[in-house]
Amino acid sequence: MQKIFITGCTGYIGSHTCVELLEKGYEIVGLDNFSNSKPIVLDKIKEITGKEIKFYEGNMLDKKLLQKIFKENDISLVIDFAAYKAVGDSVQKPIEYYINNVSSVLTLISVMQEFKVKSLIFSSSATVYGTPEVVPITEEAKIGGTTNPYGTSKLYVEGILNDLSKADPEFKICIFRYFNPVGAHDSGLIGEEPNGIPANLMPFICKVALKELPCLNVFGNDYDTIDGTGVRDYIHIVDLAKAHVKGVEKLNSIDSGLLIYNLGTGRGYSVLEIIQTFEKVNNIKVPYKIVERRPGDIATCYADSSKAFKELNWQAHKNLEDMCRSAYNFNLNR
Ligand code: UFG
Repeated sequence: MQKIFITGCTGYIGSHTCVELLEKGYEIVGLDNFSNSKPIVLDKIKEITGKEIKFYEGNMLDKKLLQKIFKENDISLVIDFAAYKAVGDSVQKPIEYYINNVSSVLTLISVMQEFKVKSLIFSSSATVYGTPEVVPITEEAKIGGTTNPYGTSKLYVEGILNDLSKADPEFKICIFRYFNPVGAHDSGLIGEEPNGIPANLMPFICKVALKELPCLNVFGNDYDTIDGTGVRDYIHIVDLAKAHVKGVEKLNSIDSGLLIYNLGTGRGYSVLEIIQTFEKVNNIKVPYKIVERRPGDIATCYADSSKAFKELNWQAHKNLEDMCRSAYNFNLNR
């Protein structure tokens, strides 16, 4: 069976994607340096699937290690999840973000070229659209105007992959622009486990529900939205992971080209709607207070994901209740 190299394989999106691919019979060679994940995730993946990843611990910037991995394994496709992703942090440490998120991709691509492995799926983000002019956002929407180094790092890599695809038509590249992945695997064994105080809404809500944090700060209720709070396209992590299986099948079926797909549900929910649904399905209170807007936030962001449906035969199936239930269930198990 096809061998896929996955960077960031123990992270939030990486681990769920490993599960979906292993369950389809793919073999996985994984790399992680545990900068934002834990080794135990490897055991959990095995517990869920009954299968093992061939795992290497290390950094994607380590060219010698990448060469060793490609030499030791007959890899035919790469999925690159390894990156830093904290927006606020990236403002404080831009150079670390550019090295970790951009230089590492250059290293990876140069090793892929050396070993003539020319299929790549890259994790990008809806953040590349900056402040969208219209919603739902299609892949043809203007990109740019990112407001932080994290977002800009994704934008730069997209540019690099564009140039690469033109210069070397043997490359087959699929860029996924994720909207807001939330929730956890049904088993409750893997999920989102950020280090420190979470910056994102759902992990923060979970910690408040568990009384590990006293209260949720809702960042502004004066946006031009249904109830004044920010609206986002939350997508269940398992739906998102399944899109990568479709991405692999797609790249296997083409000879050349760069494909870009939004991954979202096509529906936006406000912060208050998330809180209400979370409280209802989990039968628990989430105390919150309204505070100032968070700098850099936009009012509304949701995807037009019809291209992924048309070309990959993929769409999200899980609803907001599934997202809230599974996120809490994972946190109860932590
Ligand atoms: N929010 C709160 N309180 C919190 C955290 C978030 O009210 O404690 C609100 C935000 O203001 C926003 C919504 O909840 O309206 C979602 O915020 P998140 O931080 O969960 O997600 P963002 O949409 O801001 O960011 C996500 C990813 C980023 C990515 C961005 C754009 O986390 O990596 O989408 O694609 F850059």
